Amino acid sequence: MNKQEALVIGASSDIGQSVASALKETEEFDNIHLVSRKPITNTSLLNSSIFRTYICDNKEVSIRRVLQEIYIAGSAPCSIVICNGILHSNKISPERRLEQISASSLEKIFRINAIIPILWLSELINHLSGTSPSVVAVLSARVGSITDNKLGGWYSYRASKSALNMLLKTAAIEYSRRNRMVKLLSLHPGTVDTKLSKPFQRSIPKEQIFTPDYAASRLLKIMKSISHDGELDYLDWEGKEIPW
Ligand SMILES: NC(=O)c1ccc[n+]([C@@H]2O[C@H](COP(=O)([O-])OP(=O)(O)OC[C@H]3O[C@@H](n4cnc5c(N)ncnc54)[C@H](OP(=O)(O)O)[C@@H]3O)[C@@H](O)[C@H]2O)c1
Repeated sequence: MNKQEALVIGASSDIGQSVASALKETEEFDNIHLVSRKPITNTSLLNSSIFRTYICDNKEVSIRRVLQEIYIAGSAPCSIVICNGILHSNKISPERRLEQISASSLEKIFRINAIIPILWLSELINHLSGTSPSVVAVLSARVGSITDNKLGGWYSYRASKSALNMLLKTAAIEYSRRNRMVKLLSLHPGTVDTKLSKPFQRSIPKEQIFTPDYAASRLLKIMKSISHDGELDYLDWEGKEIPW
């Protein structure tokens, strides 16, 4: 079997690093390209020559440069995972009340969670193969579901993931016209024990919190089994559909 290439964007993510390791474990890939804003420090990734790392600030010109570098070197990734997403930072906490909404937090979270993934997809349209199948999986979240929003709160995170889903749905329609070999996925990895969920794990039973390795294995299973039907699927870690 011809070996393939994979690309993990936002690769410093705890889930992204497990995705990178899980991709390597499959032994299906010659190269796994890892893109992050900062150098990857995970030694188990750095010690393997299968991984190629790129620093990128996710501006349009930088995204273009990274993809050109990858493709000029003769690589053509067909399994792509976009991990970028934040819920909180030193300065941002998820809003519980309307009075906690700030324009600057909303703008920052929308940029990272919704705008950056669509910038990558807008550049990838001119790079992905039109003759062999590719899958682009973007890490979304169940809280981006408008139907599922029973609890309220987390305005910026919820809305940014809903916006991400709409951007992906619109991109899937265009991809299906321009390149039907590409399948787009919006995936909810479950609650995963990472930097992102750490401050919010107290109310969740331990058995419902996944390790990043488990979440990564579920996501790769879905990516491998999905059919190329020109649709965007919004799925959880079990492969079950999430209502929009
Ligand atoms: N953990 C969970 O329970 C959970 C649940 C549902 C959905 N998710 C989603 O899963 C994805 C990965 O999350 P994680 O749990 O692995 O969190 P994490 O370890 O905190 O990863 C954060 C991710 O966001 C990116 N990022 C952070 N600040 C950024 C900035 N200023 N500009 C651009 N990118 C930035 C990082 O990319 P760099 O490599 O470039 O730093 C990295 O990909 C997110 O999209 C998250 O919403 C997680």
